[in-house]
Amino acid sequence: MDALELLTQRTSTPALRAPAPSAEQVQVMLDAACRAPDHGLLRPYRFLVIEGEGLLKLGELFLAAGLKKDPDLDETAQKKLRNMPLRAPMIIVAIAVKQEHPKVPEVEQVITAGCAAHAIVQSAFAQNLGAMWRTGAMTHNPDVREGLNIAENEEIVGFVYLGQSLKVRAAPEFDASTLTQSWR
Ligand SMILES: Cc1cc2nc3c(=O)[nH]c(=O)nc-3n(C[C@H](O)[C@H](O)[C@H](O)COP(=O)(O)O)c2cc1C
Repeated sequence: MDALELLTQRTSTPALRAPAPSAEQVQVMLDAACRAPDHGLLRPYRFLVIEGEGLLKLGELFLAAGLKKDPDLDETAQKKLRNMPLRAPMIIVAIAVKQEHPKVPEVEQVITAGCAAHAIVQSAFAQNLGAMWRTGAMTHNPDVREGLNIAENEEIVGFVYLGQSLKVRAAPEFDASTLTQSWR
């Protein structure tokens, strides 16, 4: 795929089907993630690859976390939480690992982790896979953090849902010049 076509035409895919990306495809995505721009070359990120039984376990973790927050959750809400991770055959959790640094503030490190997550999304598209970056209430939930072993100095920047996209959406038309001024 032409690089500029990727950069200008990529779209997300909410409906993702099996099979999960292959080991080779995952490696390409992680290699791309590790090429994110990175002030000080701190590599302020790490990733969890979740598929199969792991997705079921993540659903149970979401449900337990949701019930702890609101024990009165009705059946529909409980089912929604449990099934959330089953919307794709694979999830890569992108995690920012913030480090004390004299020149690189935490915000820049989180941006780098975000760029890494976007590189996963883009390299999925470039491999004819579908991807959707999701966050939501579970992202910063303390029980979810504990269940995923997220350390104090870490933040989940996204759950990148991955799989086969049956239909690729066209990118919406947008004129970037409407958001751009010349400053002199
Ligand atoms: C940090 C971040 C968090 C996001 N969280 C969600 C989410 O929880 N649910 C959702 O539907 N889209 C979420 N999105 C947006 C989608 O990933 C996607 O970009 C959006 O649906 C627009 O589609 P497009 O990428 O094809 O333009 C998030 C995007 C970012 C960058």
